[in-house]
Amino acid sequence: MSGAQSPVVPPLDDRDGVIWLDGGLVPWREARLHVLSHGLHYGGSVFEGERVYGGRVFKLHEHSLRLVASAREMGFTLPWDAGELDAATREAVAVAGLTEGYVRPVAWRGSDTLRLVARDSSVHVAIAAWPWPQVFASGPRGIRLATSRWRRPAPDTAPVRAKTAALYALGSLAGQEAEEAGRDDALLLDHRGRLAEATGANLFLVIDGALHTPPPECVLDGITRRTVIALARELGLEVVQRHMEPAELTRADEVFLTGTAYEVQPVTAVDALDYPIGAVTTALVRAYARTVRGEEDRPAPPSGAAMGEGG
Ligand SMILES: Cc1ncc(COP(=O)(O)O)c(C=O)c1O
Repeated sequence: MSGAQSPVVPPLDDRDGVIWLDGGLVPWREARLHVLSHGLHYGGSVFEGERVYGGRVFKLHEHSLRLVASAREMGFTLPWDAGELDAATREAVAVAGLTEGYVRPVAWRGSDTLRLVARDSSVHVAIAAWPWPQVFASGPRGIRLATSRWRRPAPDTAPVRAKTAALYALGSLAGQEAEEAGRDDALLLDHRGRLAEATGANLFLVIDGALHTPPPECVLDGITRRTVIALARELGLEVVQRHMEPAELTRADEVFLTGTAYEVQPVTAVDALDYPIGAVTTALVRAYARTVRGEEDRPAPPSGAAMGEGG
């Protein structure tokens, strides 16, 4: 994820605490892997990013299920099922004493062989958890995007449904170039040049009070995306999942991103286009903030927004 405004913290490999690794807790600094690991050389690695709110991992089981599914998509089977991963994650969060934090489960093929085809290789799983503020630490003040020259590949070109390290080289390059251009993050188009997503978040346009978002074909099927679609429908907003050309950005009244790290993040600019942080985005920022903390009450629908049946 790009655009992070990190507080001063020790490097990731030099912290106190423990990491859950292959079934047990090991001292943080000793959670190492061999340099000849398949996951390092060929992208045989999958991961999740989870948030802890009030000591609870939001949508934990959905994330564990996606980790298992990503591994399957990459041709390997995790030695733990989603229920066992849930329990391991809760243990890592409890031992870390976290109330507000981030969790990084990661699974990778080991160093048994450097053959590309490593069907029988060992598979390792680690879960690290640490205190973590929002990616954009000053809250939903809005972020500025630059359209990237890198595109999300077609589903028959790369395993786009998997949350695999093999795909994140793209987001890493795109994010770096966006930051070098003075923007917070990159907007990637898909292989056909249609609107896709940011480096670590899904994209929504607000057009005439309705939400429009690309279908999860070339973009990650985000858990926050699903949550926000459900919240929007509860608020009576129409949600349309469809492919969109970049020119549709000129029709949008508001633009925002959704992701575990980004939460609901207003977009205030895409290239030369500027956007306000409008009523629909603000209503969803608030609804999401209440939902992650398990609060039942829903805020009132945004004033002036077009209401319709959920699409
Ligand atoms: C490329 C990409 N798209 C979208 C998302 C948002 O997914 P989620 O809401 O499940 O965090 C992420 C974050 O995991 C991501 O890396």
